[in-house]
Amino acid sequence: MPTATAVPSALVERRLADPYPYFAWLRRHAPALREDKPGGAVVWHVSRYADVRALLSDRRLSKCPQRVPGYVAGPPGLNRHLVHADPPEHTRLRHLVSAAFIPRHIAALEPLIDTTVRDLIDGLDGRAEIDVVGDFAAPLTFTLICAILGLPERLNTDRTRRLLLATVTPEAAWPGPDADGTPAGLIGELIADKRRGGHSESDLLGALVSACGAAGGLTEEELASTAYLLLLVGHDTTMNLIGNGMLALLRHPEQLALLERERVPIRTAVEELLRYDSPVRDATFRVAAEPLTVAGERIEPGHIVSLLIGSANRDPDVFEQPDRLDLARTPNNHLALGHGTHFCIGAALARLQASIAFPSLLRRLGPVRLAVPEDELRWRPTRVMRGLYTLPVVRA
Ligand code: HEM
Repeated sequence: MPTATAVPSALVERRLADPYPYFAWLRRHAPALREDKPGGAVVWHVSRYADVRALLSDRRLSKCPQRVPGYVAGPPGLNRHLVHADPPEHTRLRHLVSAAFIPRHIAALEPLIDTTVRDLIDGLDGRAEIDVVGDFAAPLTFTLICAILGLPERLNTDRTRRLLLATVTPEAAWPGPDADGTPAGLIGELIADKRRGGHSESDLLGALVSACGAAGGLTEEELASTAYLLLLVGHDTTMNLIGNGMLALLRHPEQLALLERERVPIRTAVEELLRYDSPVRDATFRVAAEPLTVAGERIEPGHIVSLLIGSANRDPDVFEQPDRLDLARTPNNHLALGHGTHFCIGAALARLQASIAFPSLLRRLGPVRLAVPEDELRWRPTRVMRGLYTLPVVRA
């Protein structure tokens, strides 16, 4: 059985910047790779599409971090949310938020997405260098999730975003000053603000505040955790799709030209950008609740199972020439938005934002190129996401 120590060190060293050669090695030599963590925890890294897809919806895997003693799943007081829950808690928590994200409600946000995209790009007029992530993708995606949750304008700030992102990017190295305060303090402030303002149920946070304490509703800890979760994943996902996607397009000028000339439907292109450099690289926390066998390896209860979505989406058993960006690729059964009970709640929102953002950016910015050599781009060291700190471009 190959263990983590068997992986060629050059692949490991490069995997933050480029995980794909590492993933290819895993799929070929160790489709279920065992890693023994210093504290005694065991983590299995699963890399083939068929296994990842099956395990994303396998009830023998639990999503409750409490099953692993000492495991730190996230910031204190903010961990009781649907990503870390099994049925029936998961069903209850998901039901409370899912209505806000159904396609009909999301489609109604199109005018807001249009205006936000336009205003942000207007604000870039005359700028020689633009950071696609910080100047565009971050404020766009955060504005949208703030609107859905019903946050007051004054809290839609870089400070709020930084505090949230610092919980998943330990080496906070964003450009600019650090945000002060704690994430729990911030979320407490948001909820107190909602309560003071006489919350309405027309926004999601207002509805959650109303459900707090009611039968079948939420506890205070679940309320705070859910608000934290939605604010974080509501932007630190689509933000990375826009960043990773723009980088992929800049590296493939012939594909970029297809999009510019509208030779490929934008919805199809977005699916390929989701597959090609998946913003959620590794699925969220899962632990074996029962023994199971994966790729010939026996996984014991209490072992953590990491499902490598970014690897599954490059599996040659499923995708022809998987390392090729092909914006017209159909079918495209990628797993970038998950699969099964925990399938992404924000899928319609992410797809709509991306399908408006990419064409608008390309049209309004005109030809651009990377402002720095590619190996100077800095990828964020996070457990789940794949995304850049910044994507600086200049008009070509
Ligand atoms: C391109 C953007 C996005 C990508 C790639 C993405 C990806 C994913 C994936 C892979 C999962 C499943 C994780 C797992 O099973 O371990 C997931 C779940 C989830 N996503 Fe997204 N997501 C995106 C955007 C969003 C947005 C905009 C929201 C808005 C709130 C959102 C909210 C959620 C939530 C709440 C879950 C947990 C669902 C559950 O556990 O039942 N996502 N997402």
